[in-house]
Amino acid sequence: MNILAIESSCDESAASVVFADKKKKEIKVKTNIISSQIKLHAKYGGVVPELAAREHVYKLLPTIDKALKEADCTIKDIDLIAVTKGPGLITSLLTGTETARTLAYSNNIPVLGVNHIEGHLFAPFINNWKKIKFPAVILTVSGGHSDIILMQSTTKYKKLGSTRDDASGEAFDKGAKMMSLGYPGGPIISKKAEEFEKSKKKQSLKDFPRPMKYSDNLDFSFSGLKTSLLYRLKKDKNWKKKINEYCYLYQEAIVDVLVSKTIKAAIKYNTKSVLLSGGVSANIKLREEITKKVEDKHLQVFISDLQYTTDNAAMIAVASIFNEKTKNKISLSRTKDSWKELSVQENLD
Ligand code: KG4
Ligand code: ZN
Repeated sequence: MNILAIESSCDESAASVVFADKKKKEIKVKTNIISSQIKLHAKYGGVVPELAAREHVYKLLPTIDKALKEADCTIKDIDLIAVTKGPGLITSLLTGTETARTLAYSNNIPVLGVNHIEGHLFAPFINNWKKIKFPAVILTVSGGHSDIILMQSTTKYKKLGSTRDDASGEAFDKGAKMMSLGYPGGPIISKKAEEFEKSKKKQSLKDFPRPMKYSDNLDFSFSGLKTSLLYRLKKDKNWKKKINEYCYLYQEAIVDVLVSKTIKAAIKYNTKSVLLSGGVSANIKLREEITKKVEDKHLQVFISDLQYTTDNAAMIAVASIFNEKTKNKISLSRTKDSWKELSVQENLD
């Protein structure tokens, strides 16, 4: 089966062609094209929804064309269209779902709406489907969510914990903004933290707090950590000279909490595998730490390939393979309530 997937929930216009054989557990990503809007939003320090939606209007069709062309196929070779239906920015989502709906209608192809977080959930399956053993616990972390999910199988999963305020990617982005480092903050903070580690300088500042690390649930909270950074920068007139160390300690606090809670979940639910995905899973320190701690427990770890960590359409295609829930079907006819199909509710609860 050839799937054409479209992702436009935030600031990436993405399209992908994926071949999938469910019986053989085979997934082949033929193309994974991402047209990023980072430069457009960088000067505002975050995503501007109206600009994002307008840019999708310009970028989506050429991106889809490119994905089809480089996969050496045309729309006639496509068996299913999968499109992100939420959560995300409503006007950005609409550009994707309307494009999918129109392509589906005019070419007589079924179309399936996919929950964006379920997309991230299935990113580690792209190259590991046959190897992943259940039950598995997955930490999925991005700019919009930070969740720990228990997967009993590819169709049975439930959320064990979530952030109570900011997502971990948001903590990176807002932390970077406070230090005037630019957007998106995760990669910049990570680079500066690495520079501090490489310099082999001794730690001169005290550690940041580890919010909710020892709480008896699997939830997270990152807004206090962000406030702690804000007050420490205000108090320290020389913070700019120590910026690499601040980035290092801030990243250590985020990674420590994320990894500790994931291991806690793996032990509590006696899982066989631990999975990691989402934009923040591009973080090298997080990838290294989770690998180390999971292997210490003699469990298997499966981390999303770097190209499938931040928003992409290949993960949406893969999620659609497992996602047969009828409520995810997008109708081809528009009604005055069509927009209600765009769920901002997650299907994971
Ligand atoms: O999954 P994603 O592309 O979009 C959402 O669904 O939100 O994730 C974007 C988030 C941003 O907050 C960005 O700062 C973070 O992922 N991110 C990182 C790294 N690369 C991207 N965070 C930490 N370290 C990175 N290397
Ligand atoms: Zn995402």
